[in-house]
This record gives sequence, C-alpha cells and structure tokens, in this order.
Amino acid sequence: MTAKIDPSALLAQARSAMTGAYAPYSSFCVGAALLLSDGQVVTGANVENASYGLAMCAERVAIGTAVAAGKQHFVAIAIAANEASPCTPCGACRQVLAEFAPDVEVILESADGSPWVLGLQELLPHQFAFDSLVARKG
Ligand code: THU
Repeated sequence: MTAKIDPSALLAQARSAMTGAYAPYSSFCVGAALLLSDGQVVTGANVENASYGLAMCAERVAIGTAVAAGKQHFVAIAIAANEASPCTPCGACRQVLAEFAPDVEVILESADGSPWVLGLQELLPHQFAFDSLVARKG
C-alpha cells in the first residue's frame, strides 16, 4: 500500500529540515522532506561550498540519501525555504525527481503558509527519461 500524503505535516518536516542547511554564501536556507511509499520520510537541506557552483540543493540531498539507502519509490516531496514562498524546485532537481518518480506530488509553501500541491508533470512536462534514450536507439 502506498503511503497517504498529509501535505501540511510533510511541509512541517521540510521546514524543520531547513535548520540543517549550510548556506553561509546565499543565506537562503532550504529544507526538503521526501515521503517514500513505505511511509518513511527522508529529509535534506542545502549544502553550499566556497566554490559556489558546487552547492547541493536540499531536494537532491534528500533524494540521494533515500536512493543510497535502497529507497527509490517516492510519493511526495515538500519544500520550504526561509525567504521565498513558494520555493519552487530548480530545474536540475525537477529532472532528478523525474528519474525516480515522474508523477511525484510536489508540496510547496504558499505565502500564507498553506500547502500548494502540484504534480511533477506540471513542473516538468515532456520529461527526458530512460525511455527517451531507448526510443532513440529504436
Ligand atoms: N536551492 C535549493 O536547495 N533548492 C532549490 O530548489 C533551489 C535552490 C538552494 C541552492 C543554494 O544553496 C541556495 O538555495 C540559493 O540558490
């Protein structure tokens, strides 16, 4: 059975994960909470570097942590940031989400704090994926 999504609760976990951010360069702290199909939640926060381009987004930290633990079935991801509401996932994170969960629900925080739920298909239509590579080979 797939885990049931509680958008407000998952958003609260993303907000809490934000405290783990290492963002001395941008001061833009982001937290992500990834709900797995087994009900487990894996969190992540952004991790920056003196070599700016090496910054890791909160979403990809959470996804990498889950995948490295053998968990690849994602149901939803909530994202919260200290400055922007909503903090929509960057293009790279959308693409990485699509690799594992093309239809994942993305839960963002509206300006009034309420959850705003979107499907990844809305955020990244016409996804480039494994099948795109196979199709090319005929
Ligand atoms: N950031 C994320 O963690 N997730 C996003 O989807 C957008 C951007 C981080 C990267 C960097 O540490 C900071 O926010 C400013 O771009």
